[in-house]
Amino acid sequence: MQEAIDIQGARDLWVRPLSPACGAELGGIDLSRPLAAHEVRAIKDAWNEHIVLVFRGQKLSQDDQLRFAAYFGDLGSRKKAPEPLRARAEGIRQDHEKVLLVTNIKVDGNPIGAFGDGEFWFHIDSGYAPRPYKYTFLYALELPSRGGNTKFSNMYMAYDAVPAELKEKLKGKKALHIHEYNRAKQAKSWGDISGIPHHAHPVFVTHPDTGRKTLFVDRLMTTRIEGLDETESDAILNTLYELGERPDFIYEHVWQLGDFVMWDNRCTIHARTDFPKEERRLLRRCTVEGEPLYE
Ligand code: SIN
Repeated sequence: MQEAIDIQGARDLWVRPLSPACGAELGGIDLSRPLAAHEVRAIKDAWNEHIVLVFRGQKLSQDDQLRFAAYFGDLGSRKKAPEPLRARAEGIRQDHEKVLLVTNIKVDGNPIGAFGDGEFWFHIDSGYAPRPYKYTFLYALELPSRGGNTKFSNMYMAYDAVPAELKEKLKGKKALHIHEYNRAKQAKSWGDISGIPHHAHPVFVTHPDTGRKTLFVDRLMTTRIEGLDETESDAILNTLYELGERPDFIYEHVWQLGDFVMWDNRCTIHARTDFPKEERRLLRRCTVEGEPLYE
């Protein structure tokens, strides 16, 4: 059902929830023009409630996208890969440090952006960093004929579903997040990780804006719970990954050209479904810088 957002001067804005888990479409607004403070506030309120927002049919230049994202905080810089992995992670058409091209397109055999083909397991954007991005904004420029959907899971719901005794056991515990530049293969926590970006965050994080508890763990990059032996850590992490990926906590976004999707990275994980690798997919991404996270 579509509801008008009840805010002075932003009466054209409407919101339509997209799933019982999370996600809402917002309409009645053109993001290519500068917005008034009350419009930004209305969007922020809807965002805190629905955690993933979708705007359809937008026509956004790179500058428009960056101007809009900057209403929500300092823009995040693209994270540089460690030198040995740089060639795999740096696209040749990424000419702005705040922009990452999510794409499988290559020119003369060189990727123009990052994240290539195929499935992408559930993850948190830059969860391996001491200050993971707060927000991610993705704009659809070219799409395959099928697949390449982005799935979002509501990690407030996942936290609520953690059994009470497990919540008690994991109180005060941190988990290690590692970036190994794989998209569908878990990062490994053994061996020397000193050359690979990594950071331990609380398993349960209190969202700095809403004060709600969220589960901060993902299958791709969270590899070990500190203070537990490997067998126990693996077993508990598997339980937590599965809770985070429960179908009833997920909204799956089927992209259309001109879609602009923004999500809160602190209380969601997201994944991508497979798509035909001979077809082009191009989305423009920017982020808002994060802050240290606490239980
Ligand atoms: C991302 O994880 O930032 C990209 C998701 C996608 O390609 O749908």
